[in-house]
Amino acid sequence: MINKNSPIPIYYQLEEHIKMLIEKGELKPGDALPPEREYAEKYQISRMTVRQAFTHLVTEGYLYRLQGKGTYVAERKIEQLLQGLTSFTEDMKARGLEPGSQLIRFEIHPASAQMAEQLAISQSDPVYEIERIRLADGVPMALETTYLSANLISGLTEEIVNQSIYAYIENTLKLQIDHASQIIESSIAGQAEAKLLKVSKGAPVMHIQRNSFMNDGTPVELVKSIYRADRYKFMIQMKR
Ligand code: GLP
Repeated sequence: MINKNSPIPIYYQLEEHIKMLIEKGELKPGDALPPEREYAEKYQISRMTVRQAFTHLVTEGYLYRLQGKGTYVAERKIEQLLQGLTSFTEDMKARGLEPGSQLIRFEIHPASAQMAEQLAISQSDPVYEIERIRLADGVPMALETTYLSANLISGLTEEIVNQSIYAYIENTLKLQIDHASQIIESSIAGQAEAKLLKVSKGAPVMHIQRNSFMNDGTPVELVKSIYRADRYKFMIQMKR
């Protein structure tokens, strides 16, 4: 397994070996890895080398460490394609995961100047502000705050927003969401969001803002999301 004569660095060979065990399912999420010392003895390599491999795998999200306890296999990250304008509900179903929402806030209030501009409505027009924890098989994935013009997207109820807002817009209101722009920024979880996302304070997260529009340019939604960076990665295909 480890070839000391190979030009490939030993820590890298060990990393690839552990990744292979995870991919094959021989190491499952939550499993504890044997201690660094055991690997070092088994392959006759230094503990520093083993630590280096573990540290890389922690950074890449394959493993996580618990202070004083050891190193464990992390949950697989969800790979989100950035092409295609899909909803959370669609994304989870496509992966065979059960989508869910936990409603934190469901309010209607007059638009601020900034919100009015973003949604192309008049200041003081009614705006829905909906905050939901988005769940996959019951596990928090993201915290999402959605702003919608209540005149355009009328008739929302708590029951509807506990399911898919996109399905309501398209199937019930018969409005077509056409395109969107999205900004992704890295950040860390503050105390409040860490609690809701069930991660520790300071854990890596991604802030995503999506502005969606209809074909004629009418804004449909403004959404500010906080995604768990330990559970999500984004993929985009490029062509030169
Ligand atoms: C994703 C997007 C949001 C969008 C949501 C709709 O999570 N980041 O911008 O509002 O999907 O999801 P659903 O139709 O499940 O409510």
